[in-house]
Amino acid sequence: MPPPALHVHDTGDGEPLLFLHAFPLDASMWDHQVAALSGRFRCLRPDVYGFGASPPPPAGMSADDLAAAVVEALDARGIGAVTLVGLSMGGYVAFALLRRFADRVSRLVLCDTRAGADSEQARADRLRMAEQVRAEGSVESIVEPMTARLLAPESAIEFHISDPVRGRIRRATPAGVAAAQEAMAQRPDSTALLASIRVPTLVLVGSQDTVTPPAEAEAMAAAIPGAELHVIEGAGHLSNLERSDAFNAALRAFLG
Ligand code: MLT
Repeated sequence: MPPPALHVHDTGDGEPLLFLHAFPLDASMWDHQVAALSGRFRCLRPDVYGFGASPPPPAGMSADDLAAAVVEALDARGIGAVTLVGLSMGGYVAFALLRRFADRVSRLVLCDTRAGADSEQARADRLRMAEQVRAEGSVESIVEPMTARLLAPESAIEFHISDPVRGRIRRATPAGVAAAQEAMAQRPDSTALLASIRVPTLVLVGSQDTVTPPAEAEAMAAAIPGAELHVIEGAGHLSNLERSDAFNAALRAFLG
């Protein structure tokens, strides 16, 4: 049986922008971008299985399964090609989508993400977290460590930024967190794909991102023909919500 449909938040009219969220958040992380852009664009934000309003994850979920589910959601709405904006895990799903459905992507924005696969250590850490949240039946133990990992220190002490991040992590289900970590651990290396990208591309990264540091973004931008790179000063890994004005200005300039 095919997995159930993803829940897609859909706001505004116009050219479609598809936003793919980071781990372990949900589509509400894009609220600042929706506020800034939904007057001119149709802002589509799927929740990954096990996050936000989407159903629980199918067994053995992969980045390819998520890409296929996203394309099904576009098909169901009669939408062809989109401008795809993926942040971190959203970028990993974007690479899966580009591998199998390149004709559905007309422009690409890769934010705080990396093309490479995980190191052995990173993979082991993901599988450990998957086991932990399943055993605990709760995501509470990851709320503080993940908030500290995702945000720059200056953002973490701004509670209007950090408390909504905690709230989103708390809303994630243990099954969703475990399945997303397992899917990310298995994802292939997408470095070789970069040279084949033929659509206008913007690479964004927070200057303080320690999860996918600026050096990763520079390498991706250098490998994608014609890609632009923009560093969001002062932001950590969640550049779109830590420095939303600077992020939105860069996105608007790219969208034209
Ligand atoms: C994310 O922000 O999606 C995750 O931190 C990505 C990762 O763990 O590689």
